[in-house]
Amino acid sequence: MLPNTETGVKRLRAKLNINLNQTLGGISPHTYGNFAEHLGRCIYGGIWVGPQSKIPNEGGIRTDVAGALKDLGLPVLRWPGGCFADNYHWQWGVGAAEKRRPRHNLWWAQPEPNEFGTDEFIRLCRMVGCEPYICLNVGSGTVEEALGWVEYCNSDQDTYYTRLRRENGARDPYRVRFWGIGNENWGCGGSMTPEQYAYEYRKYATYLRAMDNTVPGGLFLIACGFHDDWNFRFLREMRGATHLLDAFSLHLYVGGYSRSATEFTDEDHYRLMGDVLFMETEVARACHLARYYSTFGRQIYVVVDEWGTWYPEANVASGLYQQNALRDALFTACALNMFNRHCDCVFMTNMAQTVNVLQSLILTQGSKMVLTPTYWAYYMFRGHMGGTAVACETDAPTIQDNQGRAVPVLSASASVKDGTLFLTLANIHLTAPVSVEVGLLGGSASGQACVSILTSRDVRDHNSFEAPNRVVPRAKKAAAAGASWRFRLPPMAVGAIAVGLS
Ligand code: AHR
Repeated sequence: MLPNTETGVKRLRAKLNINLNQTLGGISPHTYGNFAEHLGRCIYGGIWVGPQSKIPNEGGIRTDVAGALKDLGLPVLRWPGGCFADNYHWQWGVGAAEKRRPRHNLWWAQPEPNEFGTDEFIRLCRMVGCEPYICLNVGSGTVEEALGWVEYCNSDQDTYYTRLRRENGARDPYRVRFWGIGNENWGCGGSMTPEQYAYEYRKYATYLRAMDNTVPGGLFLIACGFHDDWNFRFLREMRGATHLLDAFSLHLYVGGYSRSATEFTDEDHYRLMGDVLFMETEVARACHLARYYSTFGRQIYVVVDEWGTWYPEANVASGLYQQNALRDALFTACALNMFNRHCDCVFMTNMAQTVNVLQSLILTQGSKMVLTPTYWAYYMFRGHMGGTAVACETDAPTIQDNQGRAVPVLSASASVKDGTLFLTLANIHLTAPVSVEVGLLGGSASGQACVSILTSRDVRDHNSFEAPNRVVPRAKKAAAAGASWRFRLPPMAVGAIAVGLS
């Protein structure tokens, strides 16, 4: 194990053993989802500028932001919160603009104009080409209100709510598949015990299940989860009713010990990378419980519907705004590799949050838009969506973080789709390149590998409105591959490699 102060290392060696015969499961495209809440400048300013704005928009939605999310192939977007969800009453946000009443956004201490509501959210999803995931209000809402929302979105019958939807311009149902039953109901969503929440969940889900026929395959119902003990107690209360449950969620935020997104020590960097080990433990524990409560033919999945870095400058006063450096991209790569490894159980993840809030994909300032290093990490990983994950074992040196954890310098995952092997990597070492020797079992790579690399001179480097392209991926010269081959990954770099299989 290298001490975290080790800077004199010239070059590290690692082995990557990929076994094409050992499949781990299909990588759900939804693993690469995101989350947008009515918070700070995420929705208002970041996504919605209104139809009268000089900023180019389609019916009020920024075309630059929607276009960037479309380019990413964003598969799913969670909305409207977050804590906001359990104080949101959807009927405030539908109908003629002049009739929408502004309300107080309780948790984020800002006015909520209600200009962006259900119909605008669905329009955004259609512009981007992603699936909507709506989080229902359990904390201050009712089953009746939730059912009305599902009816508004999904029913094709002639009812009060479908007439309302049609009056608002949508003849055909939206057929929303993903519904979250509350958010953080152990905290901002009602300070409930797991037993209380299970009682509420059973009620909500019973009635929602009766709407299963509104989407092919039925509604996908997601319960709010928390730490191990809470999840265990919740699931215990769900005994005999697990057919009401498709998944339960985890929220995993890390990084609060750093000074800021762009000012941090090398120790903070390695600690953040080490936090992926903590995240993996949480995911593995949740998956263990999910498997235990799954029944034959009915799997319960884990959904990590909020995760990412959260630095001290992201507070209520700043609208949870933070910059985004190369370090965030490295963290993203390590976490996405980890989620890929748990693809038999992790069905969806939603990084927080899409624009201008926490670990954003995109930052905006007036009409300007910048794509963050995190955006580029997602961009480089998009080839995994819908692939089959295969065993990919790393044999690499570790570095000791200031929590005493042995953090591997190399993170990797591999998948196969349409005869192509797709490999994503991160070298988290700040100074040493890693020479990687790839061993392929069960097949051979043929021809030239397409390689792209995301790195910069300093791990604190970021994209600003003045210098938007400082941290962007670059295509490398194609390299020949075979049953075994070797390549060099620069220090603090994310890499993606695609190669045909023979
Ligand atoms: O993403 C910001 C907040 O973090 C969400 O509203 C809440 O669910 C979580 O605590």
